[in-house]
Order: sequence, then structure tokens, then C-alpha cells
Amino acid sequence: MTTFGYLCSLILMCILVSSNAQLQQNFYAKSCPKVEKIILEYVHKHIPNAPSLAAALIRMHFHDCFVRGCDASVLLNFTSSSGSQTEKVGIPNLTLRGFSFIDDIKKIIEAECPGVVSCADIISLVARDSIVVIGGPFWNVPTGRRDGTISIASETLSDIPSPFSNFSTLQNDFAKKGLDLKDWSYYLVLTLLESLFARHFQTVYTILLELLVLKIHL
Ligand code: HEM
Repeated sequence: MTTFGYLCSLILMCILVSSNAQLQQNFYAKSCPKVEKIILEYVHKHIPNAPSLAAALIRMHFHDCFVRGCDASVLLNFTSSSGSQTEKVGIPNLTLRGFSFIDDIKKIIEAECPGVVSCADIISLVARDSIVVIGGPFWNVPTGRRDGTISIASETLSDIPSPFSNFSTLQNDFAKKGLDLKDWSYYLVLTLLESLFARHFQTVYTILLELLVLKIHL
């Protein structure tokens, strides 16, 4: 294993130890025992045909988690009863990709266990499995997240860090989500790589992104 691999494992372990007590491993063991297998198989089948989707899906996870926590509010569409435009059409989310991928998996899971598995858990598991399929590391994803019902476009601008912000503003944005200077150092590397390779992701890049998302959502 490379030094980088050791570093990733160490950080993953620290993150897992501090995981949210309300979530649990295999939350659907009784209510929908096949869910994780269904997701894994779907991702295995389709991500190799469109590997850049793995990066897009972990970005979706990040944008979801930064606004109202990891509650799948990023997936909600505008309805007249919701009264306002949803996160999906917030400016930072206009370039998100992978919605139909999540929709397709959701349909399969609904056919297996109607109304049981949250979309928030689906996004988290899909992001993890996609990273694994393109050669990144595996990490445990405890499940049991609840889906949010509130999704407000303007909150994407206030909660998702802007590419136009200066250092101290970005540092503040991350601090608001419980991310400290250690996480921040990943971010700096990430930003540099992102500006260089935004549309040509390599495994190392996705690993850095994924570490940040893990830290965010726990
Ligand atoms: C301060 C933090 C961040 C800022 C300001 C930022 C900003 C941006 C911007 C402006 C783009 C280009 C969008 C476009 O195509 O117009 C982008 C792309 C992207 N970002 Fe970030 N980002 C940040 C953090 C992250 C993190 C933490 C992740 C992953 C967890 C991430 C994953 C990606 C990916 C995968 C893309 C390419 C999307 C695609 O090709 O579909 N970014 N980001």
C-alpha cells in the first residue's frame, strides 16, 4: 500500500470512529435486505460505461450534504405546493450530473421494497460504490438517513462554497459545516486539482473529494 493509501485508511478510520450514533450499519437488514447488493450491482454494471459519473455522483453527495445535511433535498423538484424553486435549480447545482442514474436505482429499489429506503441513503451508497468501482477505496456507509421535504434554491448559494470566495470566506463556509483546518488542507489540494482537471478526473482526485464528503456527512 502506498503512503497515500495509508493516509486514506487512517483518515477513514478516524472518521468512522466519530460516526453519527443515529445511523447504523445495515439499517435495512430486515426491512430491505437486498438494497446494498442492488445498488452495488447496478453501479458495477453502469459506472464502467460512464466512469466520470462517479465524480459527478460524489459531487452531488457533497452539494446535498452542505445544504440541510445529507437529506436528498437536492433531488426534489419544484411543485406548486413547495412554493419556491428547489435546490436542483440553485446556481451551484445547475451543473450537477447523475440525477437520472439515482432515479433509475431508486425505481429498482422501490420495486423491491416500496417506501422503505431513503433517497439520502441511496445517494450515500451510490457515491461510495461508484468511487470503489473506479478504483478508489471502500468505506463503510452507515444508513438510516431520513429524506428532507424542504428544498430551497437560494440556500444553495448561501451554503455551498463559491468558487469566487477568498480564503477566509471559504474557511468560514467549511467551519460552519464542522470542517477544520485539517479538512481544509484537503480542500486546498482539491481546489488546485479541480481547477486543473475539473473535467478529467483521476482516481486520486476522487479520493480527496470523497474524504471531504465523508467528513462532511458524519
Ligand atoms: C470550496 C469548495 C468547492 C468549490 C468552490 C467548487 C466549485 C466547483 C465549480 C465552480 C465547478 C465547475 C462546475 C461547472 O462545470 O460549471 C466544480 C466542478 C466539480 N466539483 Fe467542485 N467545488 C468545491 C468542492 C468540491 C467537492 C468537495 C467535491 C466533491 C466531493 C467537488 C466535486 C466536483 C466535481 C466532481 C466537479 C465536476 C463535475 C462534473 O464534471 O460533472 N467539488 N466545482
